[in-house]
Amino acid sequence: MSKIAEIKSSFEAEVKSCVKISEVQDMKVKYLGKSGELTALLKEIKNLPSEERPVFGAKVNELRNFIENELQEKLFKVKELEMQEKLQNEKIDVSLTSVKPWGALHPITLVENEICNLMIAMGFEVASGPEIETDYYNFQALNIPEDHPARDMQDTFYITDIILLRTHTSPMQARLMEKKQPPIKMICPGKVFRSDSDASHSPVFHQIEGLVVDKNVTLRDLKGTLEYIASHLFGSNTKVRFRPSFFPFTEPSVEVDLTCSNCGGKGCSLCKGTGWIEVLGAGMVNPYVLENSGIDSGKYNGYAFGMGVERIAIIKYGIPDIRLFYENDKRFLKQFVK
Ligand code: PHE
Repeated sequence: MSKIAEIKSSFEAEVKSCVKISEVQDMKVKYLGKSGELTALLKEIKNLPSEERPVFGAKVNELRNFIENELQEKLFKVKELEMQEKLQNEKIDVSLTSVKPWGALHPITLVENEICNLMIAMGFEVASGPEIETDYYNFQALNIPEDHPARDMQDTFYITDIILLRTHTSPMQARLMEKKQPPIKMICPGKVFRSDSDASHSPVFHQIEGLVVDKNVTLRDLKGTLEYIASHLFGSNTKVRFRPSFFPFTEPSVEVDLTCSNCGGKGCSLCKGTGWIEVLGAGMVNPYVLENSGIDSGKYNGYAFGMGVERIAIIKYGIPDIRLFYENDKRFLKQFVK
């Protein structure tokens, strides 16, 4: 009987100091487990005189119930304690100041949008196509056969012998004409890639391809369209000049210059003293290109142009180095926020 009282008092002292779930679990094993204190006590019942056994058994059971209830209660308490502690540690200080996210449209996107909107207002549709292109669309369909020296005009990133990163948006001409019969009036903005890198060349840059195929299209139509865009982008005094050039996919071909927006045509460092700035290549779609894509060149003709978006943005905003566009320096980008 004294042993029972002893176990009870040592249990009571021990349970008071418990603060963790694991400690309560350990106590359960220590007192109520198979090799625990109470089990050991019950084993001694056989050594008692038979009349004392029921009283002893009842006492041990009473203690067992007592311990069970106490541990149960204690478990509730320490669970609550541990939860409080966890919440305290994971507390988030909502009063801390945060970094404000900042974003705005990139100057290339601004210029691209401006040009596309002008073209849409003139009835052009906008399309886009793959940046990873086949040799066929990038070259062959555009009248640039394999091993033709005209391939040297563009320093190409090849992926395999016949798969490459498109060097211009002109493959879209062939893709559009294969899908659609005239009248066609479309523009295709997008990224293009060339193995070229310095202050005025980037390995990735942007172009907008324009294509019109219909009956009786003339170079004058092309010039009028470009004059309209130029006057909206750079002011109504801007003049457009055609210079003879060569592209295998247009005949005749022209380089297109605008009067320098910086000096108004008088000559400055931006236009290298000439008063003119080259902005795009263009021409009348070569009949071979029409035929390659399933359009009757006896019935239809057309014009095409490809303008460099960076080039336009550089002139419009007076940017000294093309690489500034790709560095994502917030100080640079913030200047274009209206
Ligand atoms: N694709 C040519 C280039 O990137 C530009 C161009 C487009 C020329 C359409 C004529 C017609 O240099």
